[in-house]
Amino acid sequence: MINEVPYDQVLEIRHKVMYPDKPKDSVILPDDKKGLHIGYYKDDKPVSIVSLFLNLETKELQFRKLATLVEFQNRGYGSQLVRWILDYTKDLQFPRVWCNARVEKIDFYKKFGFTETDQVFEKNGFKYVVLEKCSF
Ligand SMILES: CC(C)(COP(=O)(O)OP(=O)(O)OC[C@H]1O[C@@H](n2cnc3c(N)ncnc32)[C@H](O)[C@@H]1OP(=O)(O)O)[C@@H](O)C(=O)NCCC(=O)NCCS
Repeated sequence: MINEVPYDQVLEIRHKVMYPDKPKDSVILPDDKKGLHIGYYKDDKPVSIVSLFLNLETKELQFRKLATLVEFQNRGYGSQLVRWILDYTKDLQFPRVWCNARVEKIDFYKKFGFTETDQVFEKNGFKYVVLEKCSF
């Protein structure tokens, strides 16, 4: 089941999965208060989470920090969240959905029709590329 996730639980999973070696506060995004935080629930517990940010002016949706607890990875839960995001973007009639993807995750997103842009950058020792899906 996919539903909203309380912010403290979002931070906990983000921290555990993505930056366990950094302080807890380092996973807070300045825009988090404006975000829609959703997750895949297994047995009433969120195990995979992602945060959505809507730009109402440009009609674009950005998703950030998709993370599945290690012991629940490779079971299709992250994919279910990506499909939910695509459906939601369509419902909103937004022409573009995008994310900054770690380069080693590009193939994961390509399965859903995301394509690479020429925007690449490096942050926290990770290489990122902007992936997008437009007018679908
Ligand atoms: C990337 C990440 C969010 C994927 O989450 P996940 O819940 O493991 O995703 P899924 O299980 O849907 O898919 C992972 C793989 O398992 C496969 N898979 C295994 N069992 C599956 C099932 N029952 N149904 C669907 N897919 C399944 C998928 O095809 C996919 O293969 P691929 O990576 O070769 O494309 C997760 O690995 C993660 O949290 N990584 C660390 C943080 C991170 O890198 N986040 C993304 C930053 S861009």
